[in-house]
Amino acid sequence: MSIAPPVRLRAYRASLLHFHADPAFAEHAYSWHEDGLLLVDGDQIHAAGDYAQLAPQLADDTDVADYRGMLIMPGFIDTHLHFPQTDMIASPAPGLLPWLETYTFPTERQFADPAHGREVAEFFLDELLRCGTTTAMVYCTVHKESVDAFFDASEARGLRMVAGKVLMDRNCPDFLADTAEGGVRDSEELIRKWHNRGRALYAITPRFAPTSSEAQLRLAGELAAAYPDTFIQTHVSENRDECAWVQSLFPASRSYLDVYDRYGLLRPRSMFGHCIWLDDRDFARMADSGAAAAVCPTSNLFLGSGLFDFERADAAQVALSLASDVGAGTSFSMFHTMNEAYKVARMKGSYLQAARMFYLATLGAARSMRLEGTIGNFAAGTEADFIVVDPKATPLLARRSAECNNLEELLFALALLGDDRAICATYAGGRLVHQRAAA
Ligand code: GUN
Ligand code: ZN
Repeated sequence: MSIAPPVRLRAYRASLLHFHADPAFAEHAYSWHEDGLLLVDGDQIHAAGDYAQLAPQLADDTDVADYRGMLIMPGFIDTHLHFPQTDMIASPAPGLLPWLETYTFPTERQFADPAHGREVAEFFLDELLRCGTTTAMVYCTVHKESVDAFFDASEARGLRMVAGKVLMDRNCPDFLADTAEGGVRDSEELIRKWHNRGRALYAITPRFAPTSSEAQLRLAGELAAAYPDTFIQTHVSENRDECAWVQSLFPASRSYLDVYDRYGLLRPRSMFGHCIWLDDRDFARMADSGAAAAVCPTSNLFLGSGLFDFERADAAQVALSLASDVGAGTSFSMFHTMNEAYKVARMKGSYLQAARMFYLATLGAARSMRLEGTIGNFAAGTEADFIVVDPKATPLLARRSAECNNLEELLFALALLGDDRAICATYAGGRLVHQRAAA
Protein backbone atom coordinates (compact mmCIF):
# COMPACT_ATOMS: atom_id res chain seq x y z
CA MET A 1 0.00 0.00 0.00
CA SER A 2 1.47 3.36 -0.93
CA ILE A 3 1.30 6.25 1.47
CA ALA A 4 -0.19 9.46 0.08
CA PRO A 5 2.43 12.21 -0.16
CA PRO A 6 1.92 15.11 2.26
CA VAL A 7 -0.38 17.79 0.88
CA ARG A 8 1.57 20.88 -0.05
CA LEU A 9 -0.63 23.72 1.18
CA ARG A 10 -0.33 27.46 0.88
CA ALA A 11 -1.82 29.48 3.72
CA TYR A 12 -3.22 33.02 3.89
CA ARG A 13 -3.88 34.73 7.22
CA ALA A 14 -6.52 37.51 7.27
CA SER A 15 -10.13 38.08 8.23
CA LEU A 16 -12.19 35.67 6.09
CA LEU A 17 -15.72 36.15 4.76
CA HIS A 18 -17.74 33.82 2.57
CA PHE A 19 -21.39 32.93 2.12
CA HIS A 20 -23.52 29.79 2.33
CA ALA A 21 -26.91 31.40 1.74
CA ASP A 22 -28.66 34.65 0.84
CA PRO A 23 -28.68 36.92 3.94
CA ALA A 24 -32.08 38.27 2.88
CA PHE A 25 -33.63 34.85 3.43
CA ALA A 26 -31.37 32.96 5.88
CA GLU A 27 -30.27 33.78 9.40
CA HIS A 28 -26.86 32.10 9.23
CA ALA A 29 -25.84 33.07 5.76
CA TYR A 30 -22.08 33.49 6.05
CA SER A 31 -18.90 32.46 7.83
CA TRP A 32 -16.76 35.22 9.31
CA HIS A 33 -13.39 34.49 10.84
CA GLU A 34 -11.91 37.66 12.28
CA ASP A 35 -8.46 36.03 12.61
CA GLY A 36 -8.83 33.48 9.85
CA LEU A 37 -6.73 31.17 7.74
CA LEU A 38 -7.38 30.15 4.15
CA LEU A 39 -5.64 26.96 3.06
CA VAL A 40 -5.10 26.38 -0.64
CA ASP A 41 -4.07 23.09 -2.19
CA GLY A 42 -2.79 23.79 -5.70
CA ASP A 43 -5.70 25.41 -7.52
CA GLN A 44 -8.36 24.45 -4.96
CA ILE A 45 -9.62 25.58 -1.58
CA HIS A 46 -8.58 23.09 1.09
CA ALA A 47 -10.13 24.76 4.16
CA ALA A 48 -11.21 28.13 5.55
CA GLY A 49 -11.51 28.73 9.27
CA ASP A 50 -10.10 30.27 12.43
CA TYR A 51 -6.34 30.69 12.51
CA ALA A 52 -6.14 29.22 16.02
CA GLN A 53 -7.92 26.09 14.87
CA LEU A 54 -6.19 25.50 11.52
CA ALA A 55 -2.63 26.70 12.15
CA PRO A 56 -1.59 23.67 14.27
CA GLN A 57 -2.33 21.37 11.32
CA LEU A 58 0.26 23.07 9.11
CA ALA A 59 3.67 21.60 8.45
CA ASP A 60 6.38 23.65 10.15
CA ASP A 61 7.81 24.93 6.88
CA THR A 62 4.44 26.06 5.43
CA ASP A 63 4.65 29.52 4.00
CA VAL A 64 1.91 31.65 5.59
CA ALA A 65 1.14 34.88 3.71
CA ASP A 66 0.40 37.44 6.38
CA TYR A 67 -2.53 39.61 5.30
CA ARG A 68 -3.65 40.57 8.82
CA GLY A 69 -5.69 43.78 8.70
CA MET A 70 -7.19 42.74 5.34
CA LEU A 71 -10.35 40.81 4.40
CA ILE A 72 -10.10 37.76 2.17
CA MET A 73 -13.26 36.82 0.30
CA PRO A 74 -14.13 34.92 -2.89
CA GLY A 75 -13.39 36.80 -6.13
CA PHE A 76 -16.27 38.87 -7.47
CA ILE A 77 -18.45 37.51 -10.25
CA ASP A 78 -19.83 40.00 -12.80
CA THR A 79 -22.70 38.35 -14.66
CA HIS A 80 -23.12 40.72 -17.61
CA LEU A 81 -20.64 42.89 -19.52
CA HIS A 82 -19.25 43.47 -23.00
CA PHE A 83 -15.48 43.22 -23.50
CA PRO A 84 -15.55 44.96 -26.92
CA GLN A 85 -17.12 48.04 -25.30
CA THR A 86 -14.12 48.69 -23.03
CA ASP A 87 -12.85 51.63 -25.05
CA MET A 88 -16.28 53.31 -25.35
CA ILE A 89 -17.17 53.32 -21.66
CA ALA A 90 -18.60 56.72 -20.68
CA SER A 91 -19.86 57.64 -24.16
CA PRO A 92 -22.76 60.08 -23.92
CA ALA A 93 -26.14 59.42 -25.57
CA PRO A 94 -29.76 60.10 -24.67
CA GLY A 95 -30.80 56.50 -24.06
CA LEU A 96 -30.11 52.92 -25.14
CA LEU A 97 -31.07 52.94 -28.82
CA PRO A 98 -29.13 56.08 -29.84
CA TRP A 99 -26.18 54.87 -27.74
CA LEU A 100 -26.15 51.58 -29.68
CA GLU A 101 -26.31 53.36 -33.05
CA THR A 102 -23.82 56.12 -32.32
CA TYR A 103 -21.12 54.35 -30.36
CA THR A 104 -21.66 50.64 -29.88
CA PHE A 105 -22.00 49.35 -33.41
CA PRO A 106 -19.06 51.35 -34.86
CA THR A 107 -16.89 50.27 -31.89
CA GLU A 108 -17.79 46.60 -32.28
CA ARG A 109 -17.01 46.76 -36.01
CA GLN A 110 -13.30 46.99 -35.18
CA PHE A 111 -13.36 43.43 -33.82
CA ALA A 112 -13.30 41.98 -37.30
CA ASP A 113 -9.55 42.44 -36.78
CA PRO A 114 -8.32 39.64 -34.46
CA ALA A 115 -5.27 41.65 -33.39
CA HIS A 116 -7.56 44.38 -32.11
CA GLY A 117 -9.64 41.79 -30.24
CA ARG A 118 -6.57 40.36 -28.56
CA GLU A 119 -5.28 43.74 -27.48
CA VAL A 120 -8.62 44.80 -25.97
CA ALA A 121 -9.13 41.40 -24.29
CA GLU A 122 -5.80 41.77 -22.46
CA PHE A 123 -6.65 45.22 -21.17
CA PHE A 124 -10.19 44.14 -20.24
CA LEU A 125 -8.94 41.18 -18.17
CA ASP A 126 -6.31 43.36 -16.46
CA GLU A 127 -9.05 45.76 -15.50
CA LEU A 128 -11.36 43.04 -14.16
CA LEU A 129 -8.57 41.58 -12.03
CA ARG A 130 -7.58 45.03 -10.75
CA CYS A 131 -11.17 45.36 -9.56
CA GLY A 132 -11.23 41.91 -7.94
CA THR A 133 -13.49 40.25 -10.50
CA THR A 134 -12.32 36.70 -11.20
CA THR A 135 -15.31 35.40 -13.20
CA ALA A 136 -17.54 37.20 -15.70
CA MET A 137 -20.24 36.47 -18.25
CA VAL A 138 -18.96 38.28 -21.29
CA TYR A 139 -20.45 39.34 -24.62
CA CYS A 140 -18.00 39.28 -27.50
CA THR A 141 -19.00 40.67 -30.92
CA VAL A 142 -20.66 39.07 -33.91
CA HIS A 143 -17.19 38.06 -35.15
CA LYS A 144 -16.20 34.57 -34.06
CA GLU A 145 -12.57 35.73 -33.95
CA SER A 146 -13.50 37.97 -31.02
CA VAL A 147 -14.43 34.88 -29.00
CA ASP A 148 -11.10 33.20 -29.78
CA ALA A 149 -9.29 36.39 -28.79
CA PHE A 150 -11.13 36.53 -25.49
CA PHE A 151 -10.75 32.88 -24.52
CA ASP A 152 -7.10 32.76 -25.61
CA ALA A 153 -6.41 35.63 -23.21
CA SER A 154 -8.46 34.22 -20.31
CA GLU A 155 -6.98 30.74 -20.76
CA ALA A 156 -3.45 32.13 -20.61
CA ARG A 157 -4.32 33.63 -17.20
CA GLY A 158 -6.15 30.52 -15.95
CA LEU A 159 -9.46 32.33 -15.40
CA ARG A 160 -12.96 30.85 -15.04
CA MET A 161 -14.80 32.85 -17.73
CA VAL A 162 -18.07 32.53 -19.64
CA ALA A 163 -18.35 34.18 -23.07
CA GLY A 164 -20.03 33.91 -26.42
CA LYS A 165 -20.37 35.26 -29.94
CA VAL A 166 -23.17 37.78 -30.41
CA LEU A 167 -25.96 36.56 -32.69
CA MET A 168 -27.49 39.42 -34.68
CA ASP A 169 -29.05 39.05 -38.13
CA ARG A 170 -31.33 42.09 -38.51
CA ASN A 171 -31.93 45.70 -37.44
CA CYS A 172 -28.22 46.37 -37.28
CA PRO A 173 -25.63 47.72 -39.72
CA ASP A 174 -24.75 45.29 -42.54
CA PHE A 175 -21.14 45.25 -41.36
CA LEU A 176 -22.23 43.59 -38.09
CA ALA A 177 -24.93 41.23 -39.32
CA ASP A 178 -24.59 37.45 -39.38
CA THR A 179 -27.28 35.10 -40.71
CA ALA A 180 -29.59 32.78 -38.80
CA GLU A 181 -27.82 29.64 -40.02
CA GLY A 182 -24.30 31.09 -40.17
CA GLY A 183 -24.49 32.56 -36.66
CA VAL A 184 -25.65 29.33 -35.10
CA ARG A 185 -23.09 27.30 -37.09
CA ASP A 186 -20.29 29.55 -35.79
CA SER A 187 -21.69 29.27 -32.26
CA GLU A 188 -21.70 25.48 -32.41
CA GLU A 189 -18.13 25.47 -33.69
CA LEU A 190 -17.13 27.71 -30.77
CA ILE A 191 -18.96 25.50 -28.26
CA ARG A 192 -17.04 22.47 -29.53
CA LYS A 193 -13.81 24.39 -29.37
CA TRP A 194 -14.15 26.21 -26.04
CA HIS A 195 -16.95 24.94 -23.81
CA ASN A 196 -15.42 23.14 -20.80
CA ARG A 197 -11.91 23.51 -22.23
CA GLY A 198 -9.87 24.30 -19.11
CA ARG A 199 -11.87 26.94 -17.28
CA ALA A 200 -13.72 28.32 -20.34
CA LEU A 201 -17.50 28.05 -20.60
CA TYR A 202 -19.61 29.04 -23.58
CA ALA A 203 -22.71 31.27 -23.62
CA ILE A 204 -25.12 31.26 -26.57
CA THR A 205 -25.58 35.01 -27.03
CA PRO A 206 -28.49 36.45 -29.04
CA ARG A 207 -27.86 40.19 -28.52
CA PHE A 208 -31.52 41.04 -27.87
CA ALA A 209 -34.83 40.23 -29.51
CA PRO A 210 -34.90 43.23 -31.92
CA THR A 211 -31.66 42.19 -33.63
CA SER A 212 -32.54 38.53 -34.16
CA SER A 213 -35.01 37.16 -36.70
CA GLU A 214 -37.49 34.54 -35.54
CA ALA A 215 -35.40 31.98 -37.46
CA GLN A 216 -32.28 32.97 -35.53
CA LEU A 217 -34.03 32.78 -32.15
CA ARG A 218 -35.47 29.38 -33.06
CA LEU A 219 -32.06 28.02 -34.06
CA ALA A 220 -30.48 29.50 -30.92
CA GLY A 221 -33.09 27.70 -28.81
CA GLU A 222 -32.40 24.43 -30.64
CA LEU A 223 -28.67 24.86 -30.06
CA ALA A 224 -29.32 25.52 -26.35
CA ALA A 225 -31.36 22.32 -26.16
CA ALA A 226 -28.63 20.33 -27.90
CA TYR A 227 -25.98 21.62 -25.45
CA PRO A 228 -27.91 21.87 -22.18
CA ASP A 229 -24.93 22.73 -19.98
CA THR A 230 -23.98 25.77 -22.05
CA PHE A 231 -25.08 29.21 -20.89
CA ILE A 232 -27.49 31.59 -22.61
CA GLN A 233 -27.17 35.34 -22.23
CA THR A 234 -29.21 38.20 -23.62
CA HIS A 235 -30.88 41.51 -22.73
CA VAL A 236 -34.52 41.87 -21.72
CA SER A 237 -36.82 44.77 -20.78
CA GLU A 238 -34.08 47.33 -20.33
CA ASN A 239 -35.65 50.45 -21.77
CA ARG A 240 -39.21 51.59 -22.55
CA ASP A 241 -38.52 52.39 -26.23
CA GLU A 242 -36.88 49.01 -26.66
CA CYS A 243 -39.89 47.27 -25.03
CA ALA A 244 -42.31 49.07 -27.40
CA TRP A 245 -40.11 48.05 -30.35
CA VAL A 246 -40.17 44.40 -29.28
CA GLN A 247 -43.94 44.49 -28.94
CA SER A 248 -44.26 45.77 -32.52
CA LEU A 249 -41.79 43.17 -33.86
CA PHE A 250 -43.36 40.22 -31.97
CA PRO A 251 -47.08 41.05 -31.65
CA ALA A 252 -48.01 37.45 -30.82
CA SER A 253 -45.90 37.36 -27.66
CA ARG A 254 -47.49 38.21 -24.31
CA SER A 255 -44.38 40.09 -23.17
CA TYR A 256 -40.76 40.75 -24.08
CA LEU A 257 -39.62 37.85 -21.91
CA ASP A 258 -42.20 35.64 -23.58
CA VAL A 259 -40.43 36.12 -26.94
CA TYR A 260 -37.43 34.28 -25.52
CA ASP A 261 -39.62 31.73 -23.78
CA ARG A 262 -41.31 30.76 -27.04
CA TYR A 263 -37.94 29.83 -28.51
CA GLY A 264 -36.77 27.74 -25.56
CA LEU A 265 -34.33 30.33 -24.26
CA LEU A 266 -35.49 30.23 -20.62
CA ARG A 267 -33.78 27.49 -18.68
CA PRO A 268 -31.19 26.97 -15.95
CA ARG A 269 -28.01 28.82 -17.02
CA SER A 270 -29.99 31.52 -18.90
CA MET A 271 -28.86 34.96 -17.76
CA PHE A 272 -31.09 37.94 -18.55
CA GLY A 273 -29.55 41.38 -18.33
CA HIS A 274 -31.56 44.29 -16.86
CA CYS A 275 -35.15 42.96 -16.26
CA ILE A 276 -36.38 46.48 -15.46
CA TRP A 277 -39.84 46.45 -17.03
CA LEU A 278 -40.89 42.85 -16.35
CA ASP A 279 -44.29 42.23 -14.76
CA ASP A 280 -45.13 39.72 -12.02
CA ARG A 281 -45.94 36.97 -14.50
CA ASP A 282 -42.54 37.43 -16.13
CA PHE A 283 -40.72 37.25 -12.78
CA ALA A 284 -42.69 34.14 -11.82
CA ARG A 285 -41.85 32.53 -15.15
CA MET A 286 -38.16 33.34 -14.73
CA ALA A 287 -38.08 31.72 -11.30
CA ASP A 288 -40.02 28.73 -12.55
CA SER A 289 -37.72 28.13 -15.51
CA GLY A 290 -34.53 28.44 -13.48
CA ALA A 291 -33.38 31.49 -15.46
CA ALA A 292 -31.62 34.31 -13.61
CA ALA A 293 -31.48 38.11 -13.65
CA ALA A 294 -28.31 40.20 -13.95
CA VAL A 295 -28.99 43.52 -12.20
CA CYS A 296 -27.04 46.34 -13.89
CA PRO A 297 -27.50 49.52 -11.83
CA THR A 298 -24.67 51.74 -13.11
CA SER A 299 -25.79 51.07 -16.69
CA ASN A 300 -29.47 51.59 -15.96
CA LEU A 301 -28.83 54.91 -14.25
CA PHE A 302 -26.37 56.04 -16.93
CA LEU A 303 -28.73 55.37 -19.85
CA GLY A 304 -31.83 56.40 -17.87
CA SER A 305 -33.30 52.94 -18.47
CA GLY A 306 -35.08 52.53 -15.11
CA LEU A 307 -34.79 51.15 -11.58
CA PHE A 308 -34.65 47.42 -10.87
CA ASP A 309 -37.41 46.29 -8.50
CA PHE A 310 -35.73 44.05 -5.90
CA GLU A 311 -38.92 43.62 -3.93
CA ARG A 312 -40.91 42.19 -6.82
CA ALA A 313 -38.04 39.98 -7.96
CA ASP A 314 -37.62 38.67 -4.40
CA ALA A 315 -41.34 38.03 -4.05
CA ALA A 316 -41.04 35.69 -7.04
CA GLN A 317 -37.75 34.22 -5.70
CA VAL A 318 -35.85 34.95 -8.91
CA ALA A 319 -32.12 34.17 -8.75
CA LEU A 320 -30.28 37.51 -8.70
CA SER A 321 -26.73 38.72 -9.26
CA LEU A 322 -24.99 42.05 -9.85
CA ALA A 323 -23.40 43.11 -13.11
CA SER A 324 -21.44 46.08 -14.43
CA ASP A 325 -22.74 45.97 -18.03
CA VAL A 326 -19.60 47.79 -19.22
CA GLY A 327 -19.59 49.78 -21.60
CA ALA A 328 -23.11 51.11 -20.72
CA GLY A 329 -22.11 50.51 -17.12
CA THR A 330 -19.79 53.21 -15.88
CA SER A 331 -17.34 51.14 -13.85
CA PHE A 332 -15.65 47.74 -13.78
CA SER A 333 -15.73 47.84 -9.98
CA MET A 334 -18.26 45.64 -8.20
CA PHE A 335 -18.00 48.05 -5.25
CA HIS A 336 -19.34 50.82 -7.50
CA THR A 337 -21.98 48.42 -8.76
CA MET A 338 -23.06 47.67 -5.17
CA ASN A 339 -23.07 51.37 -4.35
CA GLU A 340 -25.53 52.12 -7.18
CA ALA A 341 -27.59 48.98 -6.51
CA TYR A 342 -28.07 50.15 -2.94
CA LYS A 343 -29.33 53.56 -4.08
CA VAL A 344 -31.61 52.03 -6.74
CA ALA A 345 -33.16 49.82 -4.06
CA ARG A 346 -33.70 52.86 -1.84
CA MET A 347 -35.38 54.74 -4.69
CA LYS A 348 -37.82 51.82 -5.04
CA GLY A 349 -38.53 51.80 -1.30
CA SER A 350 -36.54 48.63 -0.59
CA TYR A 351 -33.36 48.11 1.38
CA LEU A 352 -30.29 46.09 0.45
CA GLN A 353 -28.12 44.92 3.35
CA ALA A 354 -24.41 45.20 2.65
CA ALA A 355 -23.97 41.50 3.41
CA ARG A 356 -26.51 40.73 0.73
CA MET A 357 -24.68 42.82 -1.85
CA PHE A 358 -21.48 40.87 -1.21
CA TYR A 359 -23.49 37.64 -1.43
CA LEU A 360 -24.96 38.73 -4.79
CA ALA A 361 -21.48 39.51 -6.12
CA THR A 362 -20.11 36.09 -5.07
CA LEU A 363 -22.19 33.03 -4.16
CA GLY A 364 -25.47 34.54 -5.44
CA ALA A 365 -23.92 34.92 -8.88
CA ALA A 366 -22.43 31.41 -8.77
CA ARG A 367 -25.85 30.01 -7.91
CA SER A 368 -27.50 32.03 -10.67
CA MET A 369 -25.03 30.43 -13.08
CA ARG A 370 -25.38 26.95 -11.56
CA LEU A 371 -21.70 27.05 -10.62
CA GLU A 372 -22.07 26.60 -6.86
CA GLY A 373 -19.49 24.03 -5.79
CA THR A 374 -17.12 25.34 -8.47
CA ILE A 375 -16.76 29.04 -7.55
CA GLY A 376 -18.43 31.60 -5.28
CA ASN A 377 -17.38 30.56 -1.76
CA PHE A 378 -14.67 28.74 0.18
CA ALA A 379 -16.23 25.29 0.38
CA ALA A 380 -13.49 22.64 0.28
CA GLY A 381 -12.71 21.59 -3.28
CA THR A 382 -13.92 24.79 -4.95
CA GLU A 383 -11.58 26.72 -7.20
CA ALA A 384 -9.20 29.01 -5.35
CA ASP A 385 -10.33 32.37 -6.76
CA PHE A 386 -10.09 34.96 -4.00
CA ILE A 387 -9.36 38.59 -3.29
CA VAL A 388 -7.56 40.47 -0.57
CA VAL A 389 -9.55 43.57 0.32
CA ASP A 390 -7.99 46.50 2.13
CA PRO A 391 -10.46 48.33 4.40
CA LYS A 392 -7.91 51.13 4.84
CA ALA A 393 -7.21 51.56 1.14
CA THR A 394 -7.80 55.30 1.11
CA PRO A 395 -7.49 57.90 3.87
CA LEU A 396 -11.27 58.24 4.01
CA LEU A 397 -11.88 54.46 4.10
CA ALA A 398 -9.31 54.15 6.88
CA ARG A 399 -11.10 56.76 9.00
CA ARG A 400 -14.53 55.32 8.27
CA SER A 401 -13.62 51.68 8.85
CA ALA A 402 -12.00 52.60 12.17
CA GLU A 403 -15.45 53.75 13.31
CA CYS A 404 -17.30 50.58 12.24
CA ASN A 405 -18.96 48.64 15.06
CA ASN A 406 -19.72 45.42 13.25
CA LEU A 407 -19.24 43.51 10.01
CA GLU A 408 -22.35 44.93 8.34
CA GLU A 409 -21.10 48.48 8.86
CA LEU A 410 -17.65 47.57 7.53
CA LEU A 411 -19.08 45.92 4.41
CA PHE A 412 -21.38 48.87 3.88
CA ALA A 413 -18.47 51.32 4.05
CA LEU A 414 -16.53 49.19 1.53
CA ALA A 415 -19.53 49.00 -0.83
CA LEU A 416 -20.15 52.74 -0.71
CA LEU A 417 -16.55 54.03 -0.60
CA GLY A 418 -14.55 51.21 -2.19
CA ASP A 419 -13.13 50.92 -5.69
CA ASP A 420 -10.13 49.27 -7.41
CA ARG A 421 -7.80 50.79 -4.80
CA ALA A 422 -9.35 48.52 -2.16
CA ILE A 423 -8.25 45.38 -4.04
CA CYS A 424 -4.85 44.63 -2.59
CA ALA A 425 -4.41 41.32 -4.46
CA THR A 426 -6.37 38.97 -6.69
CA TYR A 427 -5.78 35.21 -6.91
CA ALA A 428 -7.22 32.89 -9.58
CA GLY A 429 -6.84 29.13 -9.45
CA GLY A 430 -4.50 29.63 -6.50
CA ARG A 431 -2.16 31.92 -8.48
CA LEU A 432 -1.52 35.60 -7.85
CA VAL A 433 -2.94 37.39 -10.92
CA HIS A 434 -3.00 40.98 -9.67
CA GLN A 435 -1.12 42.85 -7.00
CA ARG A 436 -1.82 46.49 -6.20
CA ALA A 437 1.14 48.77 -6.76
CA ALA A 438 2.88 49.82 -3.56
CA ALA A 439 1.67 53.22 -2.33
N1 GUN B 1 -29.21 45.90 -25.72
C1 GUN B 1 -28.73 45.36 -26.86
N2 GUN B 1 -27.40 45.48 -26.95
C2 GUN B 1 -27.02 46.11 -25.83
C3 GUN B 1 -25.74 46.53 -25.33
O1 GUN B 1 -24.70 46.35 -25.94
N3 GUN B 1 -25.75 47.16 -24.11
C4 GUN B 1 -26.89 47.37 -23.41
N4 GUN B 1 -26.83 47.97 -22.23
N5 GUN B 1 -28.09 47.00 -23.87
C5 GUN B 1 -28.15 46.38 -25.05
ZN1 ZN C 1 -25.39 44.54 -21.91
